[in-house]
Amino acid sequence: MNWVRGHLLGSGSFATVNLATHTNNSDNFPSITAVKSSDTCYSHLLQNEKQILDRLGSSPYIINCFGDDHTFEDGEDYYNIFLEYAVGGTLFDQLKNYGGKLPETLVRRYTRSILEGLKYVHEKGFVHCDVKLQNILVMEDDNVKISDFGLAKEKSLKNDGKLECRGTPMFISPEAINDNVYESPADIWALGCALVEMFTGKPAWNFSGSNIWSLLIRIGVGEELPLIPDEFSQEGKDFLQKIFVKDPLKRWTADMLLKHPFVWDDKNISLVKELINESSSPSPRTHFNFSKEFEYDFCSPEERLQPLVEDQRFVRLVRI
Ligand code: ADE
Repeated sequence: MNWVRGHLLGSGSFATVNLATHTNNSDNFPSITAVKSSDTCYSHLLQNEKQILDRLGSSPYIINCFGDDHTFEDGEDYYNIFLEYAVGGTLFDQLKNYGGKLPETLVRRYTRSILEGLKYVHEKGFVHCDVKLQNILVMEDDNVKISDFGLAKEKSLKNDGKLECRGTPMFISPEAINDNVYESPADIWALGCALVEMFTGKPAWNFSGSNIWSLLIRIGVGEELPLIPDEFSQEGKDFLQKIFVKDPLKRWTADMLLKHPFVWDDKNISLVKELINESSSPSPRTHFNFSKEFEYDFCSPEERLQPLVEDQRFVRLVRI
């Protein structure tokens, strides 16, 4: 494979990311990619990332991996994986470009894409385990994709009782602290923390001390939850309340959250308006039919039995 390492795009604790220019590119290999490299001796996380990306396959919401190789540079052996290049860098970088926080319209759109990505990952049987703004990449078309699968794991894979420490303390879920459980609800909790950070420019937990244990105790024990921003819309607050639920079994899943009005796109909104108009005008589609279909499609299991079309709260949510 012929390629040239370009400038540094980013670096983490176990790898660096550079631009890479490919000189003998084939059809399924773009001429410009990102290359993520790590010393071969410490490359187990990068190898895990490559394996998981291969098993996940292609999704518009997950960063693409084109292949891997080994190089010998400056007396060191490196393991490299070639990833789709994201011109916008990470969502964490984007926050700086917007002066520290993003407008709610953008937060809604990015959240929808991240949720689509998480739904795909969870349905394929994996958990990302490190959702945070530094691991979300902004593409040329302003779509975002999930990256950094180094800590990802297969769902329900037992850890032989070993204490694990995956992810970043600010984003860690209560069940990971209390029971060492890292399943799909942990990614949803972390998404909630990322969403608060996108909107406020500050971490979801107000923590300035150096004692990380005191933060972990606050997250894991007692009733305290991350602060829900006052300036958020009603839909935004409701959305976060579905996420910041300490019991992982009661926390909404990616699939359920994608049906929440906070992440509805313009297509959904006009479809719903159309359906409302249809249901209130004499037409072959009866109000009763519409109402049932609607309940199933857009509500949590607890809410499915409520006649939503006639519900004031619902009508308010639709008119956003
Ligand atoms: N930073 C980390 N990964 C990246 C990628 N694939 N493209 C651009 N910047 C990055």
